[in-house]
Amino acid sequence: MNITKKINYLSVTIALLAFAACQNNSTMSTTSDSTTTETDSSVNTSLIPLSKNFHSTFDGKQTNLYVLKNGNMQVAVTNYGARIVSIVVPDKNGNPTDVAVGHDNVDDYTKGGDTYFGAIVGRYGNRIAKGKFKLDGTEYTLATNNGQNSLHGGKKGFSRQVWDAQQLNDSTLQLTYVSKDGEEGYPGNLTSKVTYTVMSNNKLKIDYEASTDKNTVLNLTNHCYFNLNGQGSGTILNHNVMINADRYTPVDSTLIPTGKLETVKGTPFDFTTPKTIGERVNDTANQQLKFGHGYDHNYVLNSKGNINEKAAEVTGDQSGIVMDVYTLQPGLQFYIGNFMDGSHALKQGKKDDFRTAFCMETQHYPDSPNQPNFPSTELKPGQQYQSTTIYAFSVKK
Ligand code: GAL
Repeated sequence: MNITKKINYLSVTIALLAFAACQNNSTMSTTSDSTTTETDSSVNTSLIPLSKNFHSTFDGKQTNLYVLKNGNMQVAVTNYGARIVSIVVPDKNGNPTDVAVGHDNVDDYTKGGDTYFGAIVGRYGNRIAKGKFKLDGTEYTLATNNGQNSLHGGKKGFSRQVWDAQQLNDSTLQLTYVSKDGEEGYPGNLTSKVTYTVMSNNKLKIDYEASTDKNTVLNLTNHCYFNLNGQGSGTILNHNVMINADRYTPVDSTLIPTGKLETVKGTPFDFTTPKTIGERVNDTANQQLKFGHGYDHNYVLNSKGNINEKAAEVTGDQSGIVMDVYTLQPGLQFYIGNFMDGSHALKQGKKDDFRTAFCMETQHYPDSPNQPNFPSTELKPGQQYQSTTIYAFSVKK
């Protein structure tokens, strides 16, 4: 090889190496001070944000990005709000697709307004009427942050706290948060543990555990926004949805349940057989759709806490990506991004435009502490709260 050929050969090699590094920006991603995760070179990681964009300090605690993987699936989680940042799964052509809405840096999450992208919400996910409830004869007053109501745990909730994180192995991350007695008005020191596991066959399992030292109420859920065609890729109105629920909990104009469990039969809320989200969303005669500005309602799941019975199934019209939901929870809040307004920058230079994502928040019914007919959300000292939800991904060709 003469000198010119040698130089050409060298520059091509350097260019190829640089290209590979760009494609796989976290070949060696630092996930915490002590943990370094090497990613599998067979998995395309270019959709996962850079870990260094999540290295910051908030409330005196360090934030990080943790990358979990198993086979063809990757999930990125930050300990700021125990939030899912990315879920990368293959589409019908085998192309890696990020189906979770999120930001590519922790600052956007800390400034992010009230979107709750990917967060664990608590102590009480969803609304509590007028921020008040009674337990054992004592009335508790919560921080109100949604008109007159308390939403998703109050002003800061669990979604704006830095959780302690421990990556147990390549596919498992455990996060812990201790909520102090009186925080946001809730009684009891409550220790919550959330474990994310990327299982084989493209399943994401979320396990919740909690214990308290005083009688309290809780409703933990994950608030991931999904677009199965890929986050930021346009409307979700053509996604096909099945929700295994014959009844739902209608609400008043402030989105507090009336207390009734009403049949979905003959209404736009009937997803017992699959239909697109858009098919009846603009049914102007329906008062419930007006109150919710679209679908923003809790479904009473027929699966009744049986994790082996499917709670919901959604298919992305373009990607062919299917998401099945399984849960131990009795309810599912189906929210279709009615408050998304394009004001937040998402990963890959995208924006959170109106109805470009949907949430399936598995949970207890809203305002349960004030609704004697709803399943109880009380937790007592000595009891161990335990719940599991699985989001299982596959493709339809
Ligand atoms: C949902 C809730 C919506 C809205 C959204 C966050 O869980 O049902 O009404 O508050 O969170 O923007």
